[in-house]
Amino acid sequence: MNTLLKKAVLLFSVSMLVGAQTDIMFDARQNPNATAVADYTGPLRPQIHFTPPTEAFHSLSCDTAMLTHDQDFMNDPNGCFLDANGTWHLYYQYNPSDVVAGNQHWGHATSKDLYHWENQAIAIYPPDNTSQVSVQELAYSHDGGYTFTRYEGNPVLDVGSAQFRDPKVIWHEGTSRWVAVIAYAQQFVVGMFTNFSHYGLLGLQYECPNLRRRSHGGMYLLTISINPGAPLGGSTTQYFPGTFNGTHFVPVDGAARIADFGKDNYAGQFFYGTPEGELPYTAAVPTAQEGWRSAMTVPRQHYLTKIPRVGWDLVQLPYNLTPVLGEELGFNNALVNASLTVDFADLASNAVYLEVNVSGPSAFVNGKLSFAFRAPSSGEALLGGCTFIGQEITCYLDRGKTLGFDDPFFTDKVSVGQVPNPSGEWSMAAIFDRSIIEVFLDGGIYSGTATFFPQEPLTLLEVSTTGMPEDALISARVTALKSGWEASVEE
Ligand SMILES: *[C@@H]1O[C@H](CO)[C@@H](O)[C@H](O)[C@H]1NC(C)=O
Ligand SMILES: *[C@@H]1O[C@H](CO)[C@@H](O)[C@H](O)[C@H]1NC(C)=O
Ligand SMILES: *[C@@H]1O[C@H](CO)[C@@H](O)[C@H](O)[C@H]1NC(C)=O
Ligand SMILES: *[C@@H]1O[C@H](CO)[C@@H](O)[C@H](O)[C@H]1NC(C)=O
Ligand SMILES: *[C@@H]1O[C@H](CO)[C@@H](O)[C@H](O)[C@H]1NC(C)=O
Ligand SMILES: *[C@@H]1O[C@H](CO)[C@@H](O)[C@H](O)[C@H]1NC(C)=O
Ligand SMILES: *[C@@H]1O[C@H](CO)[C@@H](O)[C@H](O)[C@H]1NC(C)=O
Repeated sequence: MNTLLKKAVLLFSVSMLVGAQTDIMFDARQNPNATAVADYTGPLRPQIHFTPPTEAFHSLSCDTAMLTHDQDFMNDPNGCFLDANGTWHLYYQYNPSDVVAGNQHWGHATSKDLYHWENQAIAIYPPDNTSQVSVQELAYSHDGGYTFTRYEGNPVLDVGSAQFRDPKVIWHEGTSRWVAVIAYAQQFVVGMFTNFSHYGLLGLQYECPNLRRRSHGGMYLLTISINPGAPLGGSTTQYFPGTFNGTHFVPVDGAARIADFGKDNYAGQFFYGTPEGELPYTAAVPTAQEGWRSAMTVPRQHYLTKIPRVGWDLVQLPYNLTPVLGEELGFNNALVNASLTVDFADLASNAVYLEVNVSGPSAFVNGKLSFAFRAPSSGEALLGGCTFIGQEITCYLDRGKTLGFDDPFFTDKVSVGQVPNPSGEWSMAAIFDRSIIEVFLDGGIYSGTATFFPQEPLTLLEVSTTGMPEDALISARVTALKSGWEASVEE
C-alpha cells in the first residue's frame, strides 16, 4: 500500500449545479437533540445490499413527538478502500435531502465483511461556492477516512469543461507515478496521460472510468460506464481487458464487453487496498416510496479469464456470503423434470440465495429451467430461467409481473445467450433481496442485475425443470439470507 492511500487522500470532482444548497432541515445528524435511527424496514428495502440511510427522525425538542422520514438518494460509489485494520470504507455520492440526484455530498459507511454496514457521518460536504465547471479537487484525512480536509491548492485539475468527472487514481509501478483516469463525459474520452477515445459503446456519455491491474500476467482492466444508451436501453458498464504502460492503454481486441446483462447495474468501482481488486457495483434504481433510492450491488469479486471464442472475459461472483447465509430452506438433487417449492413467508429478511447446478449431458434437446418468486396474495411474480437447446444456453429475467412501478423505460425482460462451456458443468446462483435480484451464470461468466417493485412481498419460490435428458444431474438449494441491517432496524 502506498502512503497516499494510507492517508486516504481522495480526488473528487466538484461539479455543483448553480443554486444547490444543503437542506439540513431533515438531517438528524445536524440536530444534537434528534436520535438518528436508520430505518431499514420498508418492504422494498434490500437487506443484504447497501442502501443509503433514511433517518427515522424522532424530534425531542418539540412538545409533540414527531416521527418523520427524511429523503435520501445515493448514486455512484467513489474512493472505496480497505484500511489496514480490515475495515472496508464505502463512500458514495449522496443527497441527504431528496430522493433525486443533486446536492452532492459524500456519504460514508464502514463494514468488516461488506454485508453488515455501519453508517458514518457525511465525509465531504459540497462547497459553498458553486460553479458550472467540473474541476478535480483533493481532500485528505488524518483519521483513517472519517473526516476530510480540503487541499488548499484546489482545484488540482481544471480543463474548463462542464462535463469532466469521476476521477480514479491508481499507482503505476512501471513508471512510478500516479495515474488518474477521468471521463470527458460528453466527448467519449477517458483521459489518462493520453486519451482513450471512442472505443466500444458510446451511449450518451462516458462515466466512471476505472483502471485496475489484474493479477493475470500484467493485464489491466479498464471499465467505462455509459449513461444512458446501453444496447438494451438504460445504463451499463463496459470493460476492456488490455495492457497499460503508464501512458497508453491498449485493449486486447476491438470487442465491446458488457459487465452485466441486466439494465440496473452501473458505475462500478474497485476498492483500493485489496489484493488485485474486488468491486461493488451500484445499481441505478428507478423508484421507492420509503425515503431512499438506489442500492449498491452485493460486493463482487472478479477476475479475468479466457473463454472459448470470446477470449478475455470478466468473471464476477458475490464476495464471500458466509456472514449473511442463514439456514437451508430447501434442497433437491433430483431436479430433472421435477420441481422444488419453498415458502419463505416467515423469513423476516425476505431475502434468499438460490443455487442450481446442471451437469451431465453433452447436448440438450429442449430443456427448460424456470424459477418464479411469487406473491400469493397479489398474484405478482418475478420470473427467470434458461433454455437448453443443443449446445446453447439462453437465460432471461422478467419483472413484468411485478406491479409496483410502471415506466416506458423500465422494460420487463432481459436475456443473455451464452457461449458453450466445454466442461459440461453449468451453474446459476441468484441473490434475491426484496426488490433486487442478481444472477450469476456459468460460474460467474455472465451476471445480470434487475430491480423490481412488487406491491406485495414475493414470498414463494418455485424452481423447476422440464424436457431435461435422462443423463443430466440437476440440483437446487435455497438458503435464507440474514439481514445485514438487523442491528440498526427499529424495534
Ligand atoms: C436541543 O435541546 C436544548 C435543551 O432542551 C435546546 O435549548 C435546544 O434549542 C435544542 N436544539 C435544537 C436544535 O432543537
Ligand atoms: C468560485 O469558484 C470558482 C471556480 O473554482 C472561482 O473561479 C471563483 O473565484 C470562486 N468564487 C468565490 C466567490 O470564491
Ligand atoms: C487501526 O486501529 C488502531 C487501533 O484502534 C487505530 O489507532 C488506527 O488509527 C486504525 N487504523 C486505521 C487505518 O483506521
Ligand atoms: C483528450 O481529450 C480531451 C477532450 O476531447 C481534449 O481536450 C484533450 O486535449 C485530449 N488530450 C490529449 C492528450 O489528446
Ligand atoms: C507507452 O507506449 C506508447 C506506444 O504505444 C509509447 O509512445 C509511450 O512512450 C509508452 N510509454 C511509456 C511510459 O513507456
Ligand atoms: C424429461 O422430459 C423429457 C421430455 O418430455 C423426456 O424426453 C425425458 O426423458 C425426461 N427425463 C426423465 C429423466 O424422465
Ligand atoms: C453446486 O456445486 C458446487 C461446487 O461443486 C457446490 O459447492 C454446491 O453445493 C452445489 N450446489 C448444489 C445446489 O448442488
